[in-house]
Amino acid sequence: MRLFSYTRLCIILTVLITIFYLYWSVFNFESNESVQIGTGRPVLLPTKKKLVNSHIVTVAVVACGDRLHETLTMIKSAIMLSQVHLRFIVVTEDNLIENFQEKLSEWQEFTNNAFTFRVMPLTFPKDNAQEWRKLFKPCAAQRLFLPSVLDDIDSILYMDTDTLFLTPVEDVWEHFNNMNSSQMAALAPEHEDPNVGWYNRFARHPYYGPLGVNSGVMLMNLTRMREFQWVNYVIPIYKRYKLKITWGDQDIINIIFHFHPDKLYIYPCRYNFRPDHCMYMSVCKSAERAGVAVIHGSRGFFHLEKQPVFTAIYRAFEEFQLGGDIYQDFYEPLENYLDLTTETSCGHIIGIYLKNLRRYIDIKEDNAR
Ligand SMILES: *[C@@H]1O[C@H](CO)[C@@H](O)[C@H](O)[C@H]1NC(C)=O
Ligand SMILES: *[C@@H]1O[C@H](CO)[C@@H](O)[C@H](O)[C@H]1NC(C)=O
Repeated sequence: MRLFSYTRLCIILTVLITIFYLYWSVFNFESNESVQIGTGRPVLLPTKKKLVNSHIVTVAVVACGDRLHETLTMIKSAIMLSQVHLRFIVVTEDNLIENFQEKLSEWQEFTNNAFTFRVMPLTFPKDNAQEWRKLFKPCAAQRLFLPSVLDDIDSILYMDTDTLFLTPVEDVWEHFNNMNSSQMAALAPEHEDPNVGWYNRFARHPYYGPLGVNSGVMLMNLTRMREFQWVNYVIPIYKRYKLKITWGDQDIINIIFHFHPDKLYIYPCRYNFRPDHCMYMSVCKSAERAGVAVIHGSRGFFHLEKQPVFTAIYRAFEEFQLGGDIYQDFYEPLENYLDLTTETSCGHIIGIYLKNLRRYIDIKEDNAR
């Protein structure tokens, strides 16, 4: 009798240990995803963070050369403001892979695993890999091939390295919900004013709409882009227009959507706010109304002194350490830096840069009370 119950105890213990082991390996599997290079593993999410439209909010970036630090600052801005679980995909040169992995793992610890990430080497489609490599500079063209390179991913928010979030990532992501069934990408116009627009005055190739689109902040429904066979359009268009192209991949994107305008959704300029929007006069009405959502320091403006607003905002994000007090260590210094720019053309209306941040930080303070 006693022997029997001893055996039973052993069985129960074995079962419990097995369950515990399975549970543990599932969690371990999850944290592994963050250090895998280029695997297509599904992600298991921490439970406390919610999903937006049932897809993981995914920010993708292609970083080469001296863009390591700038890219990390963009990623930091996303982590600071978002309240949902995020996934980052960084496609980069071999010699930067370790730097990204190291920093992002460290940030995962500081943020209680608020995000997962994948760092991948530059990759080209398996078919004709040689041809792709011959035709393009690797980094410039990489983004055009993401629909086939990220073949296990439904959608991404593609960000240029010289961008910063002034609002939670999910505010941009939610535009996926506004797209109709033919639209596979979202972009902001290249310009608001035909008198100073680039494409309408200088381009020698077709482009989207009256003034073209800027590709720095791009929602991409990769599922739909694969259905459209996006990658098959890239090479012929490149071959046909290569002598007329100035802005590389952005021009190719403009040409494709020129011929397929029904497949592109346009969001307002406040989702891709550039120096052009304020240098001469304030032309981005949506930013004046609802605040800048994403700021894009194109043509090096985060690092030049030409428009101090851009350097001020970059500096505040750069100096903030994740885990610090976002109000005291980020918002207050930012306000101080911006106060010094009010005499400049982009600094006339500093409220537009702070509007969304203020809302986010207010919400946080309310929650704390
Ligand atoms: C992308 O498109 C596919 C196919 O139409 C759809 O199932 C999916 O929900 C879309 N993704 C997002 C984020 O809207
Ligand atoms: C989606 O919207 C675009 C732009 O308004 C339009 O051209 C296209 O016909 C729409 N597609 C559907 C399926 O309604």
